[in-house]
Amino acid sequence: MKPPEWRPHADADALVQSLAEALCRHAERAVSAHGVFHLVLAGGATPRALYAELARRAAGDPAWHIWYGDERCLPADHAERNSVMAETAWLAASRIPPRNRHPIPAELGPEPAAAHYGEALRGIGEFDLVLLGLGEDGHTASLFPAHDIGAAPGSPDVLAVDDAPKPPAARVSLSAARLGRAGRVWFLVAGAGKRAAIVRWLRGEPLPAAHVCGREETVVWLDAAAWPDRPPPVF
Ligand code: 6PG
Repeated sequence: MKPPEWRPHADADALVQSLAEALCRHAERAVSAHGVFHLVLAGGATPRALYAELARRAAGDPAWHIWYGDERCLPADHAERNSVMAETAWLAASRIPPRNRHPIPAELGPEPAAAHYGEALRGIGEFDLVLLGLGEDGHTASLFPAHDIGAAPGSPDVLAVDDAPKPPAARVSLSAARLGRAGRVWFLVAGAGKRAAIVRWLRGEPLPAAHVCGREETVVWLDAAAWPDRPPPVF
């Protein structure tokens, strides 16, 4: 575990603007460098504002490929699906073709969906950018405390989860090892509810989120509500 770079912002809107700007810049660089931009999307509610901003910027084109860090085992069109949130807020209206948008088939159930997604990822090397959220307990994607998060080298790319403490219990998640096979890992964290987890992370606790590091950089993008007034010394 190495400490991330912390980027606090005045408020959630400033955070979204700054992150959207940086994401589009890195996408351009990735496409000009190797012709494709492999982006892993975060789930939960926090990223919705970012995806709406990316829609406003008409971000995305046929050089982009969209993957998911995790998915809830619900019907494919269920409102609580991470893929439904991203499609509704941004992707369905974007210039990223459906063949380049790779939802996790979590409607199949944890085990078969994990196997399918592992196959889909075969041959895909390093992700260019991974977006992740942070739970109040320090989880990220569907990697939860006191669970196997697949951090050890040689861990499978995709994990089947059937006892997640955050409903629904049945989920599919990229492993910490696979999420870390990325140039950049960016966490998007907003709201006072996440401050306690940020303080624990700053203190060096081995939270699941702290085990996911990018090869080039790991950045925690957060708003002032989530950033402690007097941050403890960074470990
Ligand atoms: C999920 C997410 C999960 C989420 C965090 C934060 O499927 O729930 O992948 O890891 O990112 O729990 O969720 P909020 O943004 O809703 O606080």
